[in-house]
Amino acid sequence: MHITMIGGGYVGLVSGACLAAFGARVIVIENDPIRLDRLKAGNIPLYEPGLDELIAEQRQAERLAFSDDLASALQKSRAVFIAVGTPTRRGSGHADLSYVHAAARAIAAHAPDGLLIVTKSTVPVGTGRQVAAIVRQARPDLTFHIASNPEFLREGHAIADFMQPDRVIIGLEGDPTAPSSTARTLLETLYAPLNQPESRLLFMGLESAELTKYAANAFLAMKVTFANEMADLCEATGGQIADVTRGMGMDPRISPHFLMPGPGYGGSCFPKDTQALATSARQAGTPMQLIETTIAANEARKRRLAERILALAGNDITHCTIAVLGLTFKAHTDDMRQAPSLTILPLLHEAGATLRVYDPQGMDTASPLLPDGILYADSPLHAAEGADILLVLTEWPVFAALTPTQLAPRMRGRLILDYRQIWQGHNWQKAGFHYHCLGCGTHRDSGS
Ligand code: UDX
Repeated sequence: MHITMIGGGYVGLVSGACLAAFGARVIVIENDPIRLDRLKAGNIPLYEPGLDELIAEQRQAERLAFSDDLASALQKSRAVFIAVGTPTRRGSGHADLSYVHAAARAIAAHAPDGLLIVTKSTVPVGTGRQVAAIVRQARPDLTFHIASNPEFLREGHAIADFMQPDRVIIGLEGDPTAPSSTARTLLETLYAPLNQPESRLLFMGLESAELTKYAANAFLAMKVTFANEMADLCEATGGQIADVTRGMGMDPRISPHFLMPGPGYGGSCFPKDTQALATSARQAGTPMQLIETTIAANEARKRRLAERILALAGNDITHCTIAVLGLTFKAHTDDMRQAPSLTILPLLHEAGATLRVYDPQGMDTASPLLPDGILYADSPLHAAEGADILLVLTEWPVFAALTPTQLAPRMRGRLILDYRQIWQGHNWQKAGFHYHCLGCGTHRDSGS
């Protein structure tokens, strides 16, 4: 089956390449000429483990192609996926749907009869029906179908998440239980490998599918924020967050996942999706205070950690060199969107600290976003040279492999701030370091 994927970004590239691997013939439409040239040259403009190889393999098999000609792509397609960006509109918290609406208009102009229009981008509830209205208004004569098929891809893990999903959510315009609907049949064909041995396709109404995506992400963001706040309480009362979350997580209703404290959640999804959901809820007259509090707590955490670092560095930070390991919002990505480092490092820099940073993938993306004067090292050990403090902000495996023996001769000071809990504190304390992690309370004598 021929399909068109509009958007050669993170979601469009992963989804297009994986659907090609499932047997579809996919044309990814990319309007940015520079990005399109890079894609055609096999130079994938983002870091996602395994994506380069998967795209090359599918292009080799002639199941995947890149183009900017939507008209001819649609003529050959049974389905078109809208996988364009839905960034947060500055100031309002709304999702910016201008790219989605533009895609709907472009589809309307060239859609063949019977086309299935699937929204894969994360969109506020009701957007699918807006897409249908735009197409219907432009082409009253056209027979077409619409569906919602949100993605649940984690950066750094996206291909596995697509190929072995917990579930595939499909929202349909008509009765989702009607077995014979065209949309349902086409999508069951596209996702056939996920239909066996038991189907992981979950059909529901359009609005339910759009809400499910936001609900999942907002809940996960809230869960991470809960772990972050529990970590603070552990620090204040002598608890160990690793023990508390292990104790919690053995309850299958809670599960141990997404309870690792960190410097705050970032990325292109949690911040955007929590904002969009809170805005949609407010507009619907049912404000979600839990999500609004999660957003505020997450922002406050990044600033509070910067203040904590300044306090730990002592009063005069102007003579302090801080080695920073990790800039990206998490490991296994080059994505800097809403990374905690973008809040924390400017505050440390402003206070006069000398910052020497290293990230395996993120430095090119990060440097235009960070203040001038920050020093970019070419390895973790180079970053540590002469440092008074070593701060871990991203859990890259290359950092976890570092040892006190390697760092002791290089660092000037002995303070380790492991804000991703990648190391065992006692190994560093034995080597004479002062080791701090998040949620590791130090027991205070009752008399203190
Ligand atoms: C997320 C959702 O997981 C995915 O299903 C959705 O499709 C897109 O958004 P992603 O943004 O790639 O994926 O990152 P994820 O791995 O979910 O982490 C999100 C943020 O939470 C990161 O900043 C990460 O560092 C943080 N996090 C995650 C924690 O701080 N602790 C955890 O235990 C887990």
